[in-house]
Amino acid sequence: MRQLIPRPNRDIEPDLAVVYAYPGHARRWVRANMVASVDGAAQADGKSGGLSGEADKKVFRALRGLADVILVGAATVRTEGYHQPAVPRDQYAAARAAAGQAPAAAIAVVSASLDLAFDAPLYQAPAVPTITITVADAPPDRLAAARDAGEVVIAGTGRADLAAAVDQLAETGRGHILCEGGPNLLSAVAQAGRLDEICLTLSPQLLSGHAKRVVDGPLLDPPLPLTLHTVLTEDGFLFTRHLVAQPSADR
Ligand SMILES: NC(=O)c1ccc[n+]([C@@H]2O[C@H](COP(=O)([O-])OP(=O)(O)OC[C@H]3O[C@@H](n4cnc5c(N)ncnc54)[C@H](OP(=O)(O)O)[C@@H]3O)[C@@H](O)[C@H]2O)c1
Repeated sequence: MRQLIPRPNRDIEPDLAVVYAYPGHARRWVRANMVASVDGAAQADGKSGGLSGEADKKVFRALRGLADVILVGAATVRTEGYHQPAVPRDQYAAARAAAGQAPAAAIAVVSASLDLAFDAPLYQAPAVPTITITVADAPPDRLAAARDAGEVVIAGTGRADLAAAVDQLAETGRGHILCEGGPNLLSAVAQAGRLDEICLTLSPQLLSGHAKRVVDGPLLDPPLPLTLHTVLTEDGFLFTRHLVAQPSADR
């Protein structure tokens, strides 16, 4: 891995935990991590795995190693067979313990339908209980199943109020949040005014076709201005880190 921006004094392997450290002052910070082809496709054959590679997995693991909570949309859980919890990694154990973090990030699945496999290892065998973020008027039997399977955060009715959900997590000391998509959830997080940063892996391939982009939803009006923070590269992949330039006031 090489750091291109900011240009380092010496050509040494960047420490990803340092490069991607959450801002020290932020009690609440939502970072997204997404991968896209050079022509902007966020899906290859309906999944994101075909876009990834070993270098991308390094960044993926580092971002998970730093987070309190990983937000993921229910469609990604369903289509990617996202049934495993985050695993504690030795590399991050000491720093997590020193920061008062759980041994691994908790996965938080966002869903209104609650059409989720509550018998999967994601719910039944996590290092840290899996969270379901949903709405008060979710199907009652599914809500009861979610409560049996882990922690439930209720945020409004109809569609989850993601600003309220993120704030609830931050109020319970879990404000370093990593959103792993998909594009629909990421759009909702941005619309809710809770996106602080986007980490994008540019995968060295062209796909064409009609795949979703990394953010898929209504137009953001006005657009979210971004500032470039870091660019890394390995194996032809580019890893960019952009911060939202006009952050929400009280993070
Ligand atoms: N390139 C990448 O980095 C990347 C990352 C992740 C996923 N993906 C790909 O993206 C695709 C899936 O993404 P997607 O955009 O279709 O869906 P998604 O964002 O993964 O999930 C959408 C679902 O999340 C729930 N949801 C989202 N916002 C909500 C809200 N405010 N309140 C309540 N529920 C909410 C709903 O679940 P319910 O329907 O259960 O109510 C909704 O149907 C897959 O092909 C996956 O492989 C790519």
